[in-house]
Amino acid sequence: MKERVAILGATGYSGRELVERLRRHSRVELVRAACRSHVGKTLDQVQPGSPPQQLCSLDEVNFSELDTVFLCLPHAASAEWGERALLADCRVIDLSADYRLRSPELYKQVYGLDHPYPERLQQAVYGLTEVNRPLLRDAQLIANPGCYPTSVLLGLAPLQAQGLLKGLVMADSKSGVSGAGRSASLANLHGEVAENLRPYAVGNQHRHRSEMLQELGSGVDLLFVPQVAPCFRGMLSNLYVELPEGDLHGIYASFYAGEPFVTVLPPGEVASMAHTRQTNLCVMSLHPMPEQGKLIVVSSIDNLVKGAAGQALQNLNVARGWSETEGLL
Ligand SMILES: NC(=O)c1ccc[n+]([C@@H]2O[C@H](COP(=O)([O-])OP(=O)(O)OC[C@H]3O[C@@H](n4cnc5c(N)ncnc54)[C@H](OP(=O)(O)O)[C@@H]3O)[C@@H](O)[C@H]2O)c1
Repeated sequence: MKERVAILGATGYSGRELVERLRRHSRVELVRAACRSHVGKTLDQVQPGSPPQQLCSLDEVNFSELDTVFLCLPHAASAEWGERALLADCRVIDLSADYRLRSPELYKQVYGLDHPYPERLQQAVYGLTEVNRPLLRDAQLIANPGCYPTSVLLGLAPLQAQGLLKGLVMADSKSGVSGAGRSASLANLHGEVAENLRPYAVGNQHRHRSEMLQELGSGVDLLFVPQVAPCFRGMLSNLYVELPEGDLHGIYASFYAGEPFVTVLPPGEVASMAHTRQTNLCVMSLHPMPEQGKLIVVSSIDNLVKGAAGQALQNLNVARGWSETEGLL
């Protein structure tokens, strides 16, 4: 029998990506695609070029008939709907930030809200697939990582696993404007984004920094500068770390050996946004700088795929023990 699945927030940028991929997944039946503002329409009427998926309201979703619910909602709304799904014994894969931080105090500090269900924060598995795969098997609640954290943490994971990451990490990250979602805002108008490169939340103010610090653990500090790039989708993080000793290319290649969605480029090649556009890949390149004592890692993902919908589906595949690439190639 097929896995019965719903998407809440199907009309958003990440929801749309998920609709497309779930509709071509052989083991999944997309039972409901729910939204707030376009009930009764089909997705292609809301976002032209999308599949003609029928849209319903969130209230029409009957969680008792579902196996898995994907939440593509803003934070706070996500936790409310996630709780209903969890109480009906659904598996929940949340793309928002509502289950990513393990401490309710930190959640309040970063998001300015008391978490309505703080006990869920300990239950959730942080869904950085390549790092937490064993924990994801059969997980009921999966917190899909943010897009910036996915690009940064995957770029650092081989060093972290070897205990080679220490001191200050600098992350200079560019995102396509779709990272901000589909709601209207002056800063994200075409006239403001086109032919521009705009840093924002400079100086450690971005919410994703707390998530990254949590996952990097003690002994590592992070300076993070996110920027909006003049494109719709894509993400590129330049990471600057203390240069470790050893065969760095070998360390990265062996950490990611056999991974279907991570590519470490050969020495001399440079990762770019074009390497990953519209794919679930993370492509990285390594640039040792012995004279300055630094290693530069360039890490590329598509923010809407590996940074959101693609990794969420990869996590469902892992949770269910299916082929990890199903619906993603
Ligand atoms: N965009 C990215 O690159 C990215 C990457 C990783 C994680 N995320 C996270 O994933 C989640 C979705 O992001 P997105 O970019 O896809 O957002 P989006 O384009 O703004 O879409 C949001 C979706 O949620 C619905 N919605 C908005 N407010 C709601 C509310 N109060 N109650 C119920 N439904 C509501 C919208 O419905 P209507 O359209 O019908 O109003 C829409 O379907 C966010 O938490 C975001 O932080 C996004």
